Amino acid sequence: MKKINGIGLTKDGIDLYSKDDFLGMQKAGKLAAQILDEIGEFVYPGQSTAEIDRIIENKVSKIGAKSATIGYKGYRHASCISINHVVCHGIPSEKKLKDGDILNIDVTLIYKGWYGDTSRMFVAGNLARKAERLIQVTHDALFKGIDVVRPGITFGDIGHAIQEFVEKNRMSVVRDFCGHGLGRVFHAPPNVLHYGRPGIGARLEEGMFFTIEPMVNLGRPETKLLSDGWTAVTRDKTLSAQFEHSVGVTNDGCEIFTLSPRNRFHPTY
Ligand code: MF3
Ligand code: CO
Ligand code: CO
Repeated sequence: MKKINGIGLTKDGIDLYSKDDFLGMQKAGKLAAQILDEIGEFVYPGQSTAEIDRIIENKVSKIGAKSATIGYKGYRHASCISINHVVCHGIPSEKKLKDGDILNIDVTLIYKGWYGDTSRMFVAGNLARKAERLIQVTHDALFKGIDVVRPGITFGDIGHAIQEFVEKNRMSVVRDFCGHGLGRVFHAPPNVLHYGRPGIGARLEEGMFFTIEPMVNLGRPETKLLSDGWTAVTRDKTLSAQFEHSVGVTNDGCEIFTLSPRNRFHPTY
């Protein structure tokens, strides 16, 4: 028997949450987004990602939240920081950022039992043109997915919207990692694929909470896991980018829990 975390389960085993539960997710999501808003000023050439992670860890505890990633499956850091050809789950290190590096910073925290999970792209120094285009397409791909979310569509519709947009821009969608249900737990059904076919997969219902977090590569979609057991990189060494929001399905669309309080979700704003 699957444990029920909300007020019910769909036939596909996806938790449904109440109106009150939306309030818990709003608070947790906003705090996670606020930390990303505040971290931008610490991203510059010469800075280490270990230092950025320490600042994040301090901020998480200062606001009375708990890091969801420290201790998760043996992971030891408050964030994942994925630079250039790192697709996701980059481990913070003492190595210094270089001019032109692009990086995804992913923070998941727990506040009053609710999980807030969000990531966005940052740039150290000057942004190269092709990296800028990759970041823009990845950002817009996330919103192509968010835009179709409403009760009655399927998860395949979300994946299709993202994939179609990315491939139209001659980039590729990573298949090896996906979004996920979350709420009172970090990773729950369903797997939210960022590629797919219309009408395929579970149907969305009001009260579902999940992330959409497409990873987009300038080259081919294949990834490779490094020997540290976490860091995923593009096999062809091309640049990769990612943006992530946590959302809740409402009666006629969705609510984004992890909106940036300072409207800093996009790096060029
Ligand atoms: N925050 C990531 C996600 O979007 C998961 C990180 S798990 C970790 O699902 F252990 F690598 F931190
Ligand atoms: Co996530
Ligand atoms: Co995340």
